[in-house]
Amino acid sequence: MTYKLLDGKDLSKRMKQAMKLEVQSLAEAGIVPGLAVVIVGNDPASRIYVNNKKKDCEEVGIRSFEYALPEETSEVQLLGLIDALNQDPAIDGILVQLPIPKHLDEAKVIRRISHEKDVDAFHPYNTGELMIGRPVFAPCTPAGVMELIKDAGIDVTGKNCVVVGRSNIVGKPMSMLMLHANATVTVCHSKTKDLKSACRQADILIVAIGKADFITADYVKEGAVVIDVGMNRRDDGKLTGDVDFESVSKKASAITPVPGGVGPMTRAILLKNTIKACNMHKKNMLS
Ligand code: GUN
Repeated sequence: MTYKLLDGKDLSKRMKQAMKLEVQSLAEAGIVPGLAVVIVGNDPASRIYVNNKKKDCEEVGIRSFEYALPEETSEVQLLGLIDALNQDPAIDGILVQLPIPKHLDEAKVIRRISHEKDVDAFHPYNTGELMIGRPVFAPCTPAGVMELIKDAGIDVTGKNCVVVGRSNIVGKPMSMLMLHANATVTVCHSKTKDLKSACRQADILIVAIGKADFITADYVKEGAVVIDVGMNRRDDGKLTGDVDFESVSKKASAITPVPGGVGPMTRAILLKNTIKACNMHKKNMLS
C-alpha cells in the first residue's frame, strides 16, 4: 500500500505564513502579541523546546520574553513571577515549560496562570471548557494533530479512533477533540489488556507513550491512519517516534514522520493560541 505522508513541517510553514500576515495587520494597529516562556532548571530537552518556541515567535512577529530560572527556584518565587506576568499588558500568553523540578507543585503552578493567558490550555478552566466542547484555547499537540488530519482531507466522523496514552497533555485532550469530531474513541494505556488487538481496531491510531518504535506493523490494521506523537532518542542518537515507521508505513494509508510530523504542528498551534489570546485581550480593552 502506498501511504500519504502527513507532513507537519509543510503545513506548519503554511500556517506560519498566514499568521505572519495576521500579526502584521495587528502591528499596523500598534498591537504586538507577546508570549512569556518560563523555564526552570537545566533540562536539555526543555532548553531545545524553548529555543524553538522563541524562534517560531520571531518568525511570525510575536514578541517572546524568556524567563530562565535556576533549578533551586522556590515555589513562592515562581508563583510571584506568574502573578507579575498575569498583570503585564505586554504579555498575552504564558507558558511554563514542563517538566518543572520535583520540589515545585506542577498543578499549583498551572492553576496560577490566568486562564486567559493559558496558551498551553493546561489550566483546569480550559480543560473544563474543552470537556464540554467549547475550548477557548486548543491544547497544542492534540489540536495540531486535528489540523494535520483535516488538511489531508481525512474524514473523522464515525471512524474508530484509538488513542494510546492517557496523559493530561496529549492522550486525554486528544480523545476529547476526536470525540467532538464524531469519532468513536478508545483510550488505551499501560494497563490495557491486549493492546495489540485494541490497536488493530483503529481506523485512526494515535500514539503518545514515549517508547521508541514500540508500535510495529502487527498493531496496525491495513489502511489505517497512523499519528505518531512520540519523540525519543535512540541509542545511536537518532530521533525516532513511538511508531516503527519502516514496517507500519507499509500498511498505513497515511502516517506522520518523526521528526517533521506532529512536532512542528504543536509549535504552530502555540503561535495560533498566542495570537488568539492577543485578540481576546485587545477586545477586552476596547469593551
Ligand atoms: N513539555 C512537553 N510538552 C510541553 C508543552 O506542550 N508545553 C509545555 N509548557 N511544556 C511541555
